[in-house]
Amino acid sequence: MTMVPLDPSSKPTSQRRIAEGDTVVVYERHDAMRAVAVRAGGVLQNRFGVFRHDDWIGRPFGSKVFGGGGGSSKGGGGGGKAGGGGFVHLLAPTPELWTLVLSHRTQIVYIADISLVVAYLELVPGCVVLESGTGSGSLTTSLARAVAPHGQVHTFDFHEQRAASAREDFEKNGLSSLITVNVRDVQGEGFPEEHCGAADAVFLDLPQPWLAIPSVGLMLKKDGVLCSFSPCIEQVQRACEAMKTSFTDVRTFEILLRNYEVRDVALKSVTSDEACVGPLPQKRRMLTTPGENTDCSQRSSSILVRPCSSAKGHTGYLTFASLCV
Ligand SMILES: C[S@@+](CC[C@H](N)C(=O)[O-])C[C@H]1O[C@@H](n2cnc3c(N)ncnc32)[C@H](O)[C@@H]1O
Repeated sequence: MTMVPLDPSSKPTSQRRIAEGDTVVVYERHDAMRAVAVRAGGVLQNRFGVFRHDDWIGRPFGSKVFGGGGGSSKGGGGGGKAGGGGFVHLLAPTPELWTLVLSHRTQIVYIADISLVVAYLELVPGCVVLESGTGSGSLTTSLARAVAPHGQVHTFDFHEQRAASAREDFEKNGLSSLITVNVRDVQGEGFPEEHCGAADAVFLDLPQPWLAIPSVGLMLKKDGVLCSFSPCIEQVQRACEAMKTSFTDVRTFEILLRNYEVRDVALKSVTSDEACVGPLPQKRRMLTTPGENTDCSQRSSSILVRPCSSAKGHTGYLTFASLCV
């Protein structure tokens, strides 16, 4: 299988061509995407038409491809040209997109929290990171890209099946050389001794992180940083209590992300009695949605930006701490 190279100095997307065995993120809209494994003879059917994988192979990641209107005859799909159906974009499975399309085997860490984790753990190429639990591998994927191409992420989960599924995902996405997946009860046993004093950073997403914190103190390098993610403030309090003996500079954050909808809307200028407000006819600008049929003579379009009606609320608390030296 060909893989998206994770050398941060190389651009992973448009410069690579899709090959058989690749995972592509089929993008319909920002809220409608799915991961598809490309295989010769494969077909994807969605509301935009029928898409043949054979038409994708050899195209650069990022390509816009058109679907055929249906039927099974070869060449019925549009490939790169407008056919009977609509279109999708074929994107590379970057960590940001992967987080949106992966199968949720557990709760996952989302991109806003991930950004802060990568920044405050001060991850750069070559770093060694320990993580527990692995869960669905959402965070692990971003950690791996941050430390690529020479760093390592050693991730631990006590759930064998979850660990196996995560390992499979990392293999599919070309991350195996950067990540080791291990089965271990980190709350009960701590991290393995072999990593003593070798970790630049440790990330915990565990139900009782305070049980693992003494071990984290042994694993970190002198200037190493710990981050613990917990959904409940009581967990944060107990974790902070456990950090008191070996850690300093303890800080907790909660990220509340507000999304905005960006929409291209048609504006019409009308002068009519209907549009009048007050005693004199007035010229008013009215918003219409693209495609709406009006009899107005003058039209233009404008970008509308407004907060989304549904916003993601609390995900969890991120507590960072540095090892006392
Ligand atoms: C919420 S999930 C982690 C999600 C992950 N951060 C992500 O972004 O996909 C928590 C994981 O911790 C694992 N876990 C719970 N207790 C554990 C323990 N004692 N040792 C190791 N892993 C544990 C669970 O099996 C679960 O997969």
